[in-house]
Amino acid sequence: MLPSTLEKTLFGVIATPVLHLADRHHVFTHLAANGPSLADDIATELGLDDDTLERMLLALTAFEIIQRAPTGHYSLPATMRPFLDPDDEQYIGGFINHLVEETAGRMPRLDSYLRHGKDSVDSPGSQPFASLYRNDEATRAFLNAMWDLSFAPSKELAALAGLADTVHLVDVGGASGPFAVAALHTSPALRATVFDLPQVQPYLEETRTAYDLGDRLTFKPGDFFTDDFPEGDCIAFGYILSDWPDQDCLQLLRKAHRGCPEHGRVLVMDRLFDNSRQGPLATSAMNLTMHLETQGRHRTADEFTALLREAGFPHSETHRSSGDKHVLIGYKSDPGRMCTTNGGTADHGVTPDD
Ligand SMILES: C[S@@+](CC[C@H](N)C(=O)[O-])C[C@H]1O[C@@H](n2cnc3c(N)ncnc32)[C@H](O)[C@@H]1O
Repeated sequence: MLPSTLEKTLFGVIATPVLHLADRHHVFTHLAANGPSLADDIATELGLDDDTLERMLLALTAFEIIQRAPTGHYSLPATMRPFLDPDDEQYIGGFINHLVEETAGRMPRLDSYLRHGKDSVDSPGSQPFASLYRNDEATRAFLNAMWDLSFAPSKELAALAGLADTVHLVDVGGASGPFAVAALHTSPALRATVFDLPQVQPYLEETRTAYDLGDRLTFKPGDFFTDDFPEGDCIAFGYILSDWPDQDCLQLLRKAHRGCPEHGRVLVMDRLFDNSRQGPLATSAMNLTMHLETQGRHRTADEFTALLREAGFPHSETHRSSGDKHVLIGYKSDPGRMCTTNGGTADHGVTPDD
């Protein structure tokens, strides 16, 4: 008998594509809208082959994604629904699509990386985002995946970031605006600029219109390695530093330090490895996808704190959210409030010179 963890790992190759297909063919939408349903009825309504669908539903039941009643009715448990119902803000369909359509296709490259090292395999000067943004469809799919990963957690992160006194947020690599929108909702007097590659502009404009943010949300096109950042008193990096090696992270953090007023701060919002590096599972798994899709890796809070310090932010706090993405706040000068927290779990300002 295989240990269940080994069995689930082994058959993960089945689980993720089936999850993706069920999402793409609106099976979860049907279950969310109609409640417990028979496979034949779902197949008829969605125009799908009933034998294939029933096999997929049985697999999803065994993986405990959906439930099957003795009557043969399938249903979406309340714990799964927010993540699989496209009408919910926590929906992760775009991220599932990214894993299947983008990450899975790159997995064979790990074999070459193992044998020769990434630097020998990747073409010199290869730019991760040139590939991810190879056409409009791929760009939209990537930005949808980012939205799905970042929008729901951003509400909590914006609160943890303590933006009450911030006037102008600059979201570096802010994509189609998941964090900027959450921050603007949290702080009614705030303005935000998303600074990202020019290809991202139409998607940020869609967000601005959808959320009716007018001139509170603006876009500045540019390359964060070669262009100056727009001016602001809070410079945010959400899932940015995990795309790049330490030297590039330092370059970005130093640029933020130069651009920030004395009372300003940077936010580093990212997944964090436990100090033991035994997990969390999503961080360990995404650390491999970072290797395949970017030039970065995931880090511990202590590693980010050290980068912040080296870039000129001697005071920092780590605020842990209830999810996968956490926030480190780096201050240029002593904020004098290391004993107040904005919520969440905080590891406070661990600096040698404190
Ligand atoms: C992993 S996504 C993170 C998106 C968003 N901040 C979030 O937390 O979901 C990385 C972002 O960095 C942007 N980016 C990558 N290279 C860039 C560059 N050289 N200059 C400006 N933006 C860049 C990408 O377009 C993308 O929006």
